[in-house]
Amino acid sequence: MCGIVGYIGKRDVAPLLLEGLQRLEYRGYDSAGIALHGSGTGRAGGLRTAKAKGRVRDLEAKLPPRFAGTAGIAHTRWATHGAPSDENAHPHLDDAGRVAVVHNGIIDNAAELRARLTAAGVVFASETDTEVLAHLIGRAEAETLEEKVRHALRHIEGTYGIAVLHAGFPDRIVVARNGSPVVLGIGEKEMFVSSDVAALVSHTRQVITLDDGEMATLTADDYRTYTTEGSRTAAAPTTVEWEAESYDMGGHDTYMHKEISEQADAVDRVLRGRIDDRFATVHLGGLNLDAREARAVRRVKILGCGSAYHAGQIGAQMIEELARIPADAEPASEFRYRNPVVDPDTLYIAVSQSGETYDTLAAVQELKRKGARVLGVVNVVGSAIARETDGGVYVHAGPEVCVVSTKCFTNTAVAFALLALHLGRIRDLSVADGRRIIDGLRRLPGQIEEILRGEERIAKLAAAYADAKSMMFVGRVRGFPVAREASLKLKEVSYIHAEAYPASELKHGPLALIEPAVPTVAIVPGDDLLEKNRATLEEIKARSGRILAVAHVEQEKADDTIVVPANEPELDPVLLGIPLQLLAYHTALALGRDIDKPRNLAKSVTVE
Ligand code: AGP
Repeated sequence: MCGIVGYIGKRDVAPLLLEGLQRLEYRGYDSAGIALHGSGTGRAGGLRTAKAKGRVRDLEAKLPPRFAGTAGIAHTRWATHGAPSDENAHPHLDDAGRVAVVHNGIIDNAAELRARLTAAGVVFASETDTEVLAHLIGRAEAETLEEKVRHALRHIEGTYGIAVLHAGFPDRIVVARNGSPVVLGIGEKEMFVSSDVAALVSHTRQVITLDDGEMATLTADDYRTYTTEGSRTAAAPTTVEWEAESYDMGGHDTYMHKEISEQADAVDRVLRGRIDDRFATVHLGGLNLDAREARAVRRVKILGCGSAYHAGQIGAQMIEELARIPADAEPASEFRYRNPVVDPDTLYIAVSQSGETYDTLAAVQELKRKGARVLGVVNVVGSAIARETDGGVYVHAGPEVCVVSTKCFTNTAVAFALLALHLGRIRDLSVADGRRIIDGLRRLPGQIEEILRGEERIAKLAAAYADAKSMMFVGRVRGFPVAREASLKLKEVSYIHAEAYPASELKHGPLALIEPAVPTVAIVPGDDLLEKNRATLEEIKARSGRILAVAHVEQEKADDTIVVPANEPELDPVLLGIPLQLLAYHTALALGRDIDKPRNLAKSVTVE
């Protein structure tokens, strides 16, 4: 997904912007660019720009000599309008070359604005929607840069996170947000801006996250926030909880391997300070749902995308089992398009690692518009979804840099276990069962470490299955969301086609796909469906299918079994998927994939 970085202060800006762009590379992009206030020539007096298709290192190689200044903006682009190219890379300039804009989001009425500007004599240099904004700012009849930007934004329909430089106002950067994150970094006699705190924390942990409809002016030693209508706002800085070091690779070859490896510590963090042994329950401080309100809940609807959706399916299962409240999960991406019937007795829960996924945020906004109560299960503190919801549970996984979600998925599943226990103990879950679940939660970190110690064998299994043309993943009830998430993991990081089915569905059609070249990964927990799952293994074997089972004991019908430790049945899904994260990782490694930045994908999809 696109990334924005900006700096104004006393230091040489180009190296700072390049470093910021490198911090954002994990989000996925296909081109990058920089604009700065600098002396000397270039297309425009005062502004100098450099843009490149490809990686940040390609941009760095293209920087002209003496490319220096103390104020600048930069961007990594994930193409939406216009193919990846130097011309389509941001920043975009107005035709006088005195305005430079970097933009995250989509301008829905770009075509109409483009036609109007072309008719007025503007010659466009790119195919992008963003360029219309540069021309609108450049042509705005207004005294101040703030006014020029406000004037231009009045024509815009759609989402934006922008940073603007103007040759006539070298002492400031103006930024604005509507639907795409913009975070200010407050330094000592220097100011930063980015779309992601990852680019800020090595300089400052004092940040201000703009709200939709909010703007800011950054100067070398001050900042001011205000609405797009011009009235001042009083945004106070908050402290980012994550240290800069937590964004480092930590001696691992990839962020994916690092983030898989740190899951025991991550689960420790989501449990920390929340367990109440006295009443065999948990305290969820930011839930903003008191016991009386919790008892009145008649149904739970969980919404998320991708892995967040799958974690929500696990969560729905846990809530039904422990709190006996009907619960289900559905993809957030289509929710608002089915004109959902919003029920006042339903508790809605939005799930998101980044807290910025546009589809999930839009679903939350639709629910709020219809008067629903919405909680968030989110990783990034202060993110848009966290701020839009009425309360929720932070999953405290720490920054997840790899596009492929692992530790955050696991922590989200554990966060749902906490929520299910909390709701259950407000209702009819017994003290004994509460204690049983708490003991199980406390066993998770050690059991995760035990699973990770089996990595070497899993790597060998990955090599043995890496030649598959497609893979089937099956599981029953608690095992099915595990199978779905494992299927997604394999697909997105190794590019091997994979499908997940409820095991009981195989005989209703998918069994036709089974053959030696299409192995099946079967989730076979030692729960009350064990015999049913074993019968599925027989079905597959009878059709010469290869089977890799993930189970609590060896499965004689499987060609290979990865044995994982058993926890409480309700919590087993947290553990059963972890070896399959490693399977996906090592399969991708065997196939030479770009593990942290899989093709076509972005870490946080902040556009539709
Ligand atoms: C997970 O491996 C994927 N990268 C993707 O499905 C992701 O889970 C989805 O885009 C939702 O992101 P979010 O959790 O930040 O909302």
